[in-house]
Amino acid sequence: MRTLLETEFPSRQPVIIADATVAAALPSPLPDAVQLTFRGGEGSKTRDEWLRLTDALLERSFDRNTIIIAFGGGVTTDLAGFVAATYLRGVPWIAVPTTTLAMIDASVGGKTGVNTPAGKNLVGAFHPPAAVCCDPMLLRTLPDRAYREGLAEAVKHGLILDAEYGRWIASHRDAVARRDPATLTTLIERSVGIKADVVEQDEREGGRRAILNAGHTIAHALEQVSGYTLPHGEAVAIGLVLETRLGEAMGVTAPGTSNRAAEWLRAVGLPVAPPANVRAEPILLAMHADKKNRGGEIHAALIAEPGVPARDGEGWTHPIDLSLLATLLR
Ligand SMILES: NC(=O)c1ccc[n+]([C@@H]2O[C@H](COP(=O)([O-])OP(=O)(O)OC[C@H]3O[C@@H](n4cnc5c(N)ncnc54)[C@H](O)[C@@H]3O)[C@@H](O)[C@H]2O)c1
Ligand SMILES: [Zn+2]
Repeated sequence: MRTLLETEFPSRQPVIIADATVAAALPSPLPDAVQLTFRGGEGSKTRDEWLRLTDALLERSFDRNTIIIAFGGGVTTDLAGFVAATYLRGVPWIAVPTTTLAMIDASVGGKTGVNTPAGKNLVGAFHPPAAVCCDPMLLRTLPDRAYREGLAEAVKHGLILDAEYGRWIASHRDAVARRDPATLTTLIERSVGIKADVVEQDEREGGRRAILNAGHTIAHALEQVSGYTLPHGEAVAIGLVLETRLGEAMGVTAPGTSNRAAEWLRAVGLPVAPPANVRAEPILLAMHADKKNRGGEIHAALIAEPGVPARDGEGWTHPIDLSLLATLLR
């Protein structure tokens, strides 16, 4: 980190914004820098926390030469990235992600922001980090469920654009489970490469970027119905299986794709069906409500076969038929 700052950002004064749990579990990326901490977890991704951190920077007279270092998971990169996007009309920031999800997903693409009572990520900015430092050794202290959760997005990357990568993940299940650094380095590189490629071509979300939402249409309903007790990555895993099954039933997705998705997800210890306490009816009700909010149609990013997104004419998503989903869930 010191070398990176000295060579790439020599005149900048660093300040770390860290998740307190992470700061307690891992050595600081820059021990003598000022470090501001906040209580970890989604509950801190708020305007209040943005305000507190921004005021703390102002009180310490950090000027336009500041560089913010975000040290933590996706909550930290979203929150500290948003502080960076707005502080003195924008200062650069560096992501030091400490969760699987933050390394392969949240640090790529430039979206930063906070939640509001009206919904997640409703206030934010596009402000990509000036650099991302991924060290798989930082994942050592991550609790197992959180570690595995992020892998759902890696399997998703394989499913939407690179079937060979999906097979690679499944065949390296033991090394992935052991958190073998060399295996994780390859996994992070491949996933970041896939997401960065998609985002570069479609920086502000016009069309193709929608494929990154594969599995997420159903995942959002599952998260909501579980009262957000089902972790996002587990919801995405189940969503990927259900959306590929739906695609198969619609004749959009090649038969067998859903089984392949389930096989890859199981290999990394992720669930492939909704937990028993999450029932079909509320899922369908949540999706019906969503459908009303969206003016009558719910879309999902479907795939044609592993590694190949399904086009709908010029579009990258398909309207989905909830009665068909109902038959799959029952
Ligand atoms: N900007 C984007 O493009 C993007 C993409 C995907 C997700 N996200 C956002 O990311 C957030 C979720 O990120 P997350 O899953 O990383 O959650 P998180 O940042 O809340 O981290 C999960 C938990 O693990 C703890 N933790 C993190 N790293 C640790 C480590 N190395 N050792 C021990 N404990 C550790 C944290 O304190 C927290 O309790 C959501 O808010 C989501 O909206 C953003
Ligand atoms: Zn996701």
